[in-house]
Amino acid sequence: MKYSIDINLTDASKVSEVDFNNIPFGKVFSDHMFMADYEDGEWKNFEIVPFQPLNLYPSAIVLHYAQTIFEGMKVMKNPAGEPVLFRPEMHSQRLNRSARRMAMPELPEDLFLQALTELISIDHNWIPNTPDSALYVRPFMIANDQFIGVRPSETYKFIIFTAPVGAYYSKPVKLWATDKYVRAIEGGTGFAKAGGNYAASLLPQREAQAQGFDQVMWLDGIEHKYIHECGTMNLFFVIDGVVVTPSLDAGTVLAGITRNSFIHLLKARGYEVQERPITIDELVEATKTGKVQDVFGAGTAAVVAPVESVHYKGVTYEFPEMEGRKISKQLKIDLNEVRSGQSEDTFGWTHPLNVLVEG
Ligand code: COI
Repeated sequence: MKYSIDINLTDASKVSEVDFNNIPFGKVFSDHMFMADYEDGEWKNFEIVPFQPLNLYPSAIVLHYAQTIFEGMKVMKNPAGEPVLFRPEMHSQRLNRSARRMAMPELPEDLFLQALTELISIDHNWIPNTPDSALYVRPFMIANDQFIGVRPSETYKFIIFTAPVGAYYSKPVKLWATDKYVRAIEGGTGFAKAGGNYAASLLPQREAQAQGFDQVMWLDGIEHKYIHECGTMNLFFVIDGVVVTPSLDAGTVLAGITRNSFIHLLKARGYEVQERPITIDELVEATKTGKVQDVFGAGTAAVVAPVESVHYKGVTYEFPEMEGRKISKQLKIDLNEVRSGQSEDTFGWTHPLNVLVEG
């Protein structure tokens, strides 16, 4: 191992307190976390410690100007009981794209992988075995300078903690396509997993929920007609047998790793996939003429989230009944089988960890 990581294990594991048959999303956290500091132009102080509160000054830049980025990954177990990392290098690369946009330092990919491997090896008994569950991994970076002028920080913390999770959405989602709010425009931060993108989505999400919808379907910020994404996930539409997903070219849509995996899995099954601009009018028209066969969200947390309907300009457009949603159901099976080592990994996406596996 290239980096020397100090390890300080908890003497009071909480794993026996977890009901693995009933795991809520994002409320239960595993025993340990990885931490590193960026100081004097380099990453240092690598350690794995018990999961605990952070020691931050109120003047830390992150708390004022949201100089913070994160990733979300999932780890499952293969039939031999080994933890399996899924496309970790893509997460590392996306973290660094986010870092560049937010004027933060990049984190070496080999450090990301080593930290992840050591942390997951230590907390491997937190990986659920139950259907629709996984160990969610949350790497993130925060600006740590004590300074309240507006400039990039010179010091940072990088942390990884993990959480056993169940399903993110427990039922098909209803979307609200609105021109009242905007998530991203060209030149902005839409492609980055930056905390501020999510903060700005909270009020629109609350407004969507107050009207009986689950999430906002974000439209472009200029013409309010091109579909971007959902904030918690990318979107896919099956129209007349062709799978369409908004393209990433404008930098306004998050480059989802589940999105990318689905495109490969769909193509491997012989489907035509188009990454291209798609307007809400095209979707409405295709819905009215019965050409829409499936609509779903794709994300690490959400995996596949069937979309039930979209509300746009006062009208709710219903998508097909769940029973007929052949493509999204197949994708969920295909992805879960690859991620959990149950099917052959022809894409080279998985990294099984050879840790000692308990009973
Ligand atoms: C993920 O899918 O991992 C995300 O980061 C989305 C959300 C939970 C914020």
